[in-house]
Amino acid sequence: MTDHASKASQDTAHMDAASGSGQGQAMWGGRFSTKPAELMQAINVSIGFDKRLWRQDLAGSRAHAAMLRNQKIISGDDAAAILGGLDEIAREIEAGDFPFRDEFEDIHMNVEARLRELIGPAAGRLHTARSRNDQVALDFRMWVREACERATGQLQALQRALLAQAEAHAETLMPGFTHLQPAQPVTFGHHLMAYVEMFGRDASRFADARARMNECPLGAAALAGSPFPIDRHATAAALGFARPTANSLDSVSSRDFALEALAAGAICATHLSRLAEEIVIWMTPQFGFIRLSDAFTTGSSIMPQKKNPDAAELVRAKAGRMMAAFTQLAVVMKGLPLAYSKDMQEDKVPTFEAFDVLDLSIGAMAGMVGDLTPDPDRMAAAAGAGFSTATDLADWLVRTLDMPFRDAHHVTGAAVKRAEQLDCGLADLPLEELKALDPRIEAGVYDVLTPAASAASRKSYGGTAPDQVRAQIARWKDALS
Ligand code: ARG
Repeated sequence: MTDHASKASQDTAHMDAASGSGQGQAMWGGRFSTKPAELMQAINVSIGFDKRLWRQDLAGSRAHAAMLRNQKIISGDDAAAILGGLDEIAREIEAGDFPFRDEFEDIHMNVEARLRELIGPAAGRLHTARSRNDQVALDFRMWVREACERATGQLQALQRALLAQAEAHAETLMPGFTHLQPAQPVTFGHHLMAYVEMFGRDASRFADARARMNECPLGAAALAGSPFPIDRHATAAALGFARPTANSLDSVSSRDFALEALAAGAICATHLSRLAEEIVIWMTPQFGFIRLSDAFTTGSSIMPQKKNPDAAELVRAKAGRMMAAFTQLAVVMKGLPLAYSKDMQEDKVPTFEAFDVLDLSIGAMAGMVGDLTPDPDRMAAAAGAGFSTATDLADWLVRTLDMPFRDAHHVTGAAVKRAEQLDCGLADLPLEELKALDPRIEAGVYDVLTPAASAASRKSYGGTAPDQVRAQIARWKDALS
């Protein structure tokens, strides 16, 4: 690839040429015929990034060559030479010996040019009944399909890590928050299982996107289809697609399969960033809910006491790149007339980057989840703070005294106010204080005022009671096995 320095000097040369600054017309004309040509290559060349599609490109070419042979569009000898040459190219790329060359623009032409060097003119028959338009649509679709599969697998690994912690902490109490204010006691297992649900939906979004994109565009050729007797069903099957795409224009001009995958990735990144944020908060000395080992933390170069959750912070921040990638490709595609336009070459960089980032983020998150150690004592103490069982008192008044909930809410508010005055928790309020609010209140009320009783009482389906949490863990373990 052209390096930055020479690109910059070309840009400058071009700008001088365009403005004609200090140059005579002949000189200007002369420069214009060469420099813009170099800039043309600079703006046009994509091999620097689309070389990542080499496996897909070779697979597509193999399937295409075999189909051309089977349909008697090319001879058996030519097909054998082509397939042998493609194998040799695969070996060269694996070994790092393949000459990737800017002058051949992209992966498709680099492969074809090398094939010609290796096997001679028969190489020229490979492109029969094919165009780079359907070729790139195929390669990119297969790349995104694999990226979706990988993301799904990684999300399942993350879910397994969450499940293991949730199982170990199905009874570990912690405060549940709303507005980041203590709300009601929950269990740590229940909290982690919320993320198992989110990542489960993310995985299913990738699976849905994969299923929808699993149609083969090869054979759409430039845009209108091919006059040769090609067998699109055969190439689709050979490449693992459910069927060929049904409209040749759509085949070469659509990238919504990538947009859909990026949207799934962007949503997934929002979930990852929320868990990352919670890890950051939980790790602060003020919370002290969890510890992360040295494996996923870093120190400070100046403050020796520091242990920073950098991995979590970076997962939180990298969500930005996922969201940007979706926006970037959506902006490229918006308003493009059918069929192929070169704009679409800009589909790859954001997509590659987004999935690289997603891969790292899910992996790091699975690592952190597996690595974290909760501090159940600190969590339990926090679970009881902030009058977190006030709703339990109100519910007791409703259940035991048949009070309307609104009245119970009011009485409980008064109890909280009194506990605040006495600087104690609800469970420590003397019975006579409670009786002063309603003489029918009996000592049995204290059974519901501890965080453990509060959590255990929430047995409704999907609630935080440890048995409910364990039931959901069992369901997910089953689904993931
Ligand atoms: N490198 C191109 C891309 O990524 C391949 C398709 C080129 N097609 C064309 N008609 N110029 O989009």
